[in-house]
Amino acid sequence: MAQRAAAAGEAAGAEVRLRQVARQTTEGERQASEAQAAHSAEATEPAATADDVVWADAVLFGSPTRYGNVAGQLKTFIDSLGAQWAQGLLADKVYAGFTASQTAHGGQETTLIALYNTIYHFGGIIVPPGYTDGLKFVDGNPYGVSHVTGADNDQPLGEAELAALDHLAQRVVTVAGRLTS
Ligand SMILES: Cc1cc2nc3c(=O)[nH]c(=O)nc-3n(C[C@H](O)[C@H](O)[C@H](O)COP(=O)(O)O)c2cc1C
Repeated sequence: MAQRAAAAGEAAGAEVRLRQVARQTTEGERQASEAQAAHSAEATEPAATADDVVWADAVLFGSPTRYGNVAGQLKTFIDSLGAQWAQGLLADKVYAGFTASQTAHGGQETTLIALYNTIYHFGGIIVPPGYTDGLKFVDGNPYGVSHVTGADNDQPLGEAELAALDHLAQRVVTVAGRLTS
């Protein structure tokens, strides 16, 4: 999902840093899903740093759903940004999010809303997709973009989710462009 959004952001004219929170797969996660453990072992993106967030005019945070909430690994990264928060360096940027869960109605919207709670504290500008394009009536998530990975965690992204990721990336780049011009 992050790779697709990054490509769409670049296509919309943005300079993009695709970053991954330094990921530590917990033993519980390993036991919950071997596929997930293998997936995280494949992690190839550079580790996210505070500078990446400070540098960006728009930030798309992505997290798998964990009990209807943001994954602890991403939360740990966000919690490491206290110094930048205190200096106001996280404010006035555009933010949005995307998530994946194993099941439909498995907490995707609550995960995105939980993520956005943090953005209020940043003084960030949440730019949700809403139903601002007809395609949003197909993927159906006005809070961000979400994907159902299925019982074996192996469902590929469908056309609706790919289009929704393109739309979200274009939207945050457009709004951020208006704010910075
Ligand atoms: C600790 C834990 C909690 C999870 N909680 C949920 C959940 O609340 N709803 C759901 O549908 N899937 C849940 N999942 C499944 C993940 O959301 C699923 O693995 C994810 O879509 C795939 O991303 P990942 O490989 O990075 O975990 C959970 C998985 C773990 C390990």
